[in-house]
Amino acid sequence: MRRFVGKLTVVSEPKDGRMDSFLIRGGNRLKGTIEISGSKNSALPILAACLMAEGKTVLKGVPRLSDIDSMVKLLGEMGCHLYRHEAADSMFDGPALNGPLDFEVTDEKKCEARYDIVKTMRASICVLGPLLAKRGKAIVSIPGGCAIGDRPVDLHVRGLQKLGAEFHTEGGNIVGEVRGRLKGCRMYLGGAQGPTVLGTINVMCAAALAEGETVLVGAACEPEVSDCADMLNKMGAKIKGHGTPEMRIEGVEKLTACEHRIIPDRIECGTFMIAAAITNGEVQLKHCNMDHLIAVTDRLEEVGVHISRENGTINVSSSRRLSPVEMTTQPYPGFPTDLQAQLMALLTLADGMSVITERIFPDRFLHVGELNRMGAKIRKEGATAVIQGVTQLFGAPIMASDLRASAALVLAALAAKGETKIDRVYHIDRGYEKIEQKLAAVGANIERVKDR
Ligand code: EPZ
Repeated sequence: MRRFVGKLTVVSEPKDGRMDSFLIRGGNRLKGTIEISGSKNSALPILAACLMAEGKTVLKGVPRLSDIDSMVKLLGEMGCHLYRHEAADSMFDGPALNGPLDFEVTDEKKCEARYDIVKTMRASICVLGPLLAKRGKAIVSIPGGCAIGDRPVDLHVRGLQKLGAEFHTEGGNIVGEVRGRLKGCRMYLGGAQGPTVLGTINVMCAAALAEGETVLVGAACEPEVSDCADMLNKMGAKIKGHGTPEMRIEGVEKLTACEHRIIPDRIECGTFMIAAAITNGEVQLKHCNMDHLIAVTDRLEEVGVHISRENGTINVSSSRRLSPVEMTTQPYPGFPTDLQAQLMALLTLADGMSVITERIFPDRFLHVGELNRMGAKIRKEGATAVIQGVTQLFGAPIMASDLRASAALVLAALAAKGETKIDRVYHIDRGYEKIEQKLAAVGANIERVKDR
């Protein structure tokens, strides 16, 4: 059965004043199976890339998250119609029984991403490249800073300029225009902190419809870039070298809708691996790709976590004798910044001193203060945190601040003695599908307290 969800398929966007909390009573050992959802960070740019296709695209494995709701709302304002099928298209979609999402562009006149939406979700910047390539114009509100620090978009703009787009700023918006057609060229896309994931995707999308060949040197190699490239190739694009720092894109005249399944969420998977480890648990993670988690597996094994793979399932167990480690966040295939906070939660209970250095977002340490309120001993020095392991964390009232920091607090609460109340969990709803249901199903004592 198909249900029209139209322009607004808002499932869980926090309304003003609606600030649910989690109540977690720690100490339970997690045991059982968790199904991993489709990747948020793949689905968001892929939805934006669908702006360029003619016909009806069918996306499978799109998770139900408030960030996805925001992107759907944004695309609805840009003349796109989206339908979510009600029933699961297969067991692969996991416990949420997410049906496929149909996507069709019906009106190409509007080219604006409003501040109201961009301020809630930075990934709105993903429409910039597709709009310029397909509609010749884009007005996108400049995303401000966010809880994880300064997040400029200069590399996105520079890459698109090299393809021939012209930009100016007006009333807080980036206004981009293309005279005629974008033209392919050879360019270096890296910045001071290394490659940019969404910047690579934006330029790759635009180059897919440009005239001639584009060579992107210093491209991001994240699996989410490759997933988008794979979908564009199904649509008729000619992209090679994705997953490596040098991509070659031969521009085509048009892209035609296709069917595509979003890759599993490697960050959700890594978070549940750490949940198993921190609770001395034994958990099977289904529908995940361990190849995308090689650096994470390496660090966790060094800590003493047991990890094995069996037909697409990852088995994780721990005897809670945790060794300290050093870890530096890096672009893929290095340890992802999106799992830095969660690993830190685990290392608060290691037997000795660990060191974590954040190379991607040097200010991404909002979780440190809250973990210390639970009894952790973490000292921050610039972009480095020194974690002296303790034998026990204790429940406390704490506040979620950004998506991954909040996930780290949930993990710490699962291991802590006593009760933890985490306020403002709408941050978690942005990126973890039904996290409390998935954790409760493997034995966690976690409950959502609705804000009335
Ligand atoms: C993506 O953000 C992810 N977001 C982030 O996940 C993730 O933390 C990040 O990549 C790094 O892996 C989505 O996919 C929606 P970047 P993105 O451009 O692409 C600097 C989460 O928790 N930079 O790769 O915006 C930047 O400041 C989120 O799910 C520039 O200097 O990140 C950073 O230091 C949060 N200029 C580095 O590059 C630019 O124009 C990498 O950022 C762009 C980026």
